[in-house]
Amino acid sequence: MIRRNRILRTSPAIRAMVAETILTPSDFIAPLFVTEGENVKEEISSMPGYFRYSLDLTVQEAKELWTLGIKSVLLFVKAPDNVKDNKGTEAVNPNGLMQRSIRAIKAAIPEMVVMTDVALDPYSSYGHDGIVEGTEILNDATVEVLARMSLSHAQAGADFIAPSDMMDGRILAIRNILEENGFDKVGIMAYSAKYASCFYGPFRDALDSAPGFGDKKSYQMDYANSREAIRETLMDIEEGADIVMVKPAMAYMDIIRIIKDRTTVPVSAYHVSGEYAMIKAAAQNGWLNEEKAIIESLTSLKRAGADLIATYFAKDAAKLLQR
Ligand code: PBG
Repeated sequence: MIRRNRILRTSPAIRAMVAETILTPSDFIAPLFVTEGENVKEEISSMPGYFRYSLDLTVQEAKELWTLGIKSVLLFVKAPDNVKDNKGTEAVNPNGLMQRSIRAIKAAIPEMVVMTDVALDPYSSYGHDGIVEGTEILNDATVEVLARMSLSHAQAGADFIAPSDMMDGRILAIRNILEENGFDKVGIMAYSAKYASCFYGPFRDALDSAPGFGDKKSYQMDYANSREAIRETLMDIEEGADIVMVKPAMAYMDIIRIIKDRTTVPVSAYHVSGEYAMIKAAAQNGWLNEEKAIIESLTSLKRAGADLIATYFAKDAAKLLQR
């Protein structure tokens, strides 16, 4: 034998020297669920160990994330039922929970990169990401609201707008409204290849945002397809997206790789609620070593091409990486 591949695996030191992929806390985007009230900490039943926090506790949590080296949070709010309608009224409320959350986090930790989810589902009486007419989710009318929603997030101090709705043309509309209003430093992280996935189930429990009728297949992508992901992503980049995203992550690593190879902007992957729940459930049963599963999963996503990873394990992983 003139080549023994095991030589490079001989010791921890050699393995560290030749490791291609090194996970760091600045790779992570930490999703946060904000709810009304004070001193509220509610565990999400399908996401053990993950909580909805009122704003006061959300700010504390964000501070802790920052000290762990995490540079970015992605905000979601749980809107009370009485503010939900079919027009996104609350989504553009300058004093809505989202807008207040952005202001509070930026005031407490100015350097934290605050990203905001833009879609109508938490505010929709139908639980859909857009305006509903009959059984249809209207595209252009929704885009108009999403643009105003994005502007209100920018006005509150958001650093990145993260549209997760999958309507056509929304990135251009958001870019235009930001430009017209002087927000030329606000970025857009586009959920470009977002698939209609069962792995969002626990998230919909967290925000009480499950669709009231039908499903999201007329706007989110069909998981049978990959070339469509390229088209969606290239269009979002042309329309002004700064960062593109593939979602979910683990079952979609081929898509992450294709997008990485076909683009020159940073690629993020969303390791979604159901992916979190699977690892948690297996670990609780003693079937998987949770810490190892977290680090292996996240490292693999980075190896697949993710520059950034939105993950509910952000805090756990950052702590594990400190050891
Ligand atoms: C809302 C939105 C969803 C997620 C992020 N933004 C749910 C959905 O599209 O139904 C899913 C996140 C997760 O499962 O962790 N547009």
